[in-house]
Amino acid sequence: MSALKNRDGLLWGFVPSTTKNPRHSAYHQKTVIKRIENLDYVDAVKLLAQRAGLAVPEGKSNDGLTRLRTRIYEANREAAKFYNKFLYTPQGKDGLDYLKGRHLTDKTIIHFGLGYSPKSRFELVNCLKKKGFTESELIQANLANRSDKGYLFDRFSDRVMFPIIDLRGNVIAFGGRIMSDIKPKYLNTSDTPAFNKSRNLFALQFAKNKANGQLILVEGYMDVIALHQAGFENAVATLGTSLTNEQATIIKRYCEEVVICYDSDEAGQKATSRAISILRPTGLRIRILKVPSGKDPDEFISSYGEQGPARFRMLLEKSGNDADYRLQNLRAKYDLDITEQRVEFLTNAAKLISTFENSIEQDIYTAKLAEELDVSKDAISRQVQRFYKKKSRDENIRVQREIRDNLSAKNDRINIEKASNLRAAHAEETLLAIIMYDPGAAMKIFKRLPPEKFVTSFNRKVYETLKKHADAGYDFTLTDISGEFSNEEISSITRILASVPKEINSDEASDVCIRVLEEEAQKLTPEQKANADAQTLREQIKKLKEKKK
Ligand code: CTP
Ligand code: MN
Repeated sequence: MSALKNRDGLLWGFVPSTTKNPRHSAYHQKTVIKRIENLDYVDAVKLLAQRAGLAVPEGKSNDGLTRLRTRIYEANREAAKFYNKFLYTPQGKDGLDYLKGRHLTDKTIIHFGLGYSPKSRFELVNCLKKKGFTESELIQANLANRSDKGYLFDRFSDRVMFPIIDLRGNVIAFGGRIMSDIKPKYLNTSDTPAFNKSRNLFALQFAKNKANGQLILVEGYMDVIALHQAGFENAVATLGTSLTNEQATIIKRYCEEVVICYDSDEAGQKATSRAISILRPTGLRIRILKVPSGKDPDEFISSYGEQGPARFRMLLEKSGNDADYRLQNLRAKYDLDITEQRVEFLTNAAKLISTFENSIEQDIYTAKLAEELDVSKDAISRQVQRFYKKKSRDENIRVQREIRDNLSAKNDRINIEKASNLRAAHAEETLLAIIMYDPGAAMKIFKRLPPEKFVTSFNRKVYETLKKHADAGYDFTLTDISGEFSNEEISSITRILASVPKEINSDEASDVCIRVLEEEAQKLTPEQKANADAQTLREQIKKLKEKKK
């Protein structure tokens, strides 16, 4: 037990609030300041306020949510300690052997706070209940599930556990790997009030301090851990999903250059192209590291034993930028000894080069290509210019069309039912805007208008989400619900918000809109009615089920 206690600071990079006068130690001051340097403004203010014992400025009326989050962090921290401790018990031996078998040292296991979840599905639940956590807290932390019979059982069982830690040292989630071939290989914490998988990166709490201008982006937990152990402590990974725009924004905050180092299989290469297109708009320099012979970074390093780190360093040094990568990929599709294929490759390469925003970049790649394929630079250059001009023309046309479509509100790709239900959709959108602008009016609307009254399903989904947040006592601004919608949907909701004037009289307008919706409901076609009925039925079944619990 005392060993674990001593390790605690190391494990979680966090000084528990119960430590006596933590603010008096000079070392502590230094680490706090170091951490603050890497937090964004709002987080830094929050951290400073916390340290000074002030109320944390959290915006209005979400104290309940803040409290719940804190409880989830506490439960997760206890769970992480529990899993880690269990690793060193006789029943945990399989887990420890597994990690050792994957060449992890004791130091690495401690550094990442790795652990093992018992096979029996009750041990964590029992342990945390004894520590005063309620069933509801354990479920909301996604550490436990409720069985059909009504009792709680551990979510993670018989898996090696990877705690996921945020920039403030909170344990926000877990990934758990099964040690056999059973699926799913990894089980992760689902999103909770304290965790959003698209807004966090594994090991960023370490990597940000070692970045020195560059982060390495890999696919898996094990890749990150193997790289850190090999001395590449600037590696991070996404959390079981492909890279999101939010993660790209976070990456941009901590470096100027990102090296994408995904698996070299086909899926990995597809993911690479996708990541490039998400990272490019941030302005980050992008390099692609291709691991040879179908391996992932962890397998590559392991396979070379002591030489692993040096081998990986070599790959890193010769990794090219994304322009190289894409031109190489394109080239691999053609047999350049055949004249027609050579022409086709050059044409497509010119097209690719024409998409590079930077004209110096365009020029360099044009020259390189001309030399390599022994054709005149002028010829390629003219082709690049032709594509470039066409692209600008097409872009102009597209923007014009977008403006026109937005005005006519037809072709709404997100709300496809809008075009055929314009009157209802306008009423719905006005209501949604009022709800997000005016919480007082919102509560009245929620009371009067059940979601089934919404005619178009997208607007209904937005309404349901807002109502769900309100019912649970949370704030319900666009930011609060944004986690539940795609970027495209969010921009659609933003448009809805912008289309309704702020000075609108909420009560009068909501009266009118609710009346319109009632009238429109009368006019629905039998098929639409059936859909709405089915929706109502689904709602009722769901409510019944919830009551049963
Ligand atoms: N992943 C997941 N769920 C799965 C499989 C994978 O969430 N069923 C996520 C995990 O974050 C994992 C990453 O995707 O780390 C990459 O998957 P994969 O390449 O299969 O795993 P590795 O990290 O290589 O794991 P290992 O080496 O342990 O097989
Ligand atoms: Mn692997």
